[in-house]
Amino acid sequence: MKIIIINGPNLNLLGKREQSIYGNITFEAFYQNLKEKYPQIELSYFQSNVEGELIDKIQEVGFSYDGIILNAAAYTHTSVGIGDAVKAIETPVVEVHISNTFAREEFRHHSYISAGAKGVILGFGLQSYELALQSFL
Ligand code: DQA
Repeated sequence: MKIIIINGPNLNLLGKREQSIYGNITFEAFYQNLKEKYPQIELSYFQSNVEGELIDKIQEVGFSYDGIILNAAAYTHTSVGIGDAVKAIETPVVEVHISNTFAREEFRHHSYISAGAKGVILGFGLQSYELALQSFL
């Protein structure tokens, strides 16, 4: 089973960035752990701060992979383009967020991704990604 985690802007700074919201673990450390825990899954990881690169990656994997775990980060709330890409592909997308976006500022309450996603998991810290992974098993 081929699953990819796609992370959007500023998620490369996990571990350093706003630790009270996002925790102090780097994504790389979390990802290595996840790979070891689920050796039966062919797991890969892509991160970009650039909207078009995220769209390119979604299109590239979206007709051959079994699942996409997508945290579009701030683009969740702004990007019609990423929302359209999620709707355009065949691979099911699970939208994830580390924080509970509904408990935060109003502008984080709307997602352009959710309507095209198979499901949404948010507010469980980095565990949101693991729950999303389990949903594909
Ligand atoms: C986030 C929530 C977004 O509102 C924010 O812009 C992020 C991270 C999360 O994982 O909690 O960068 O997607």
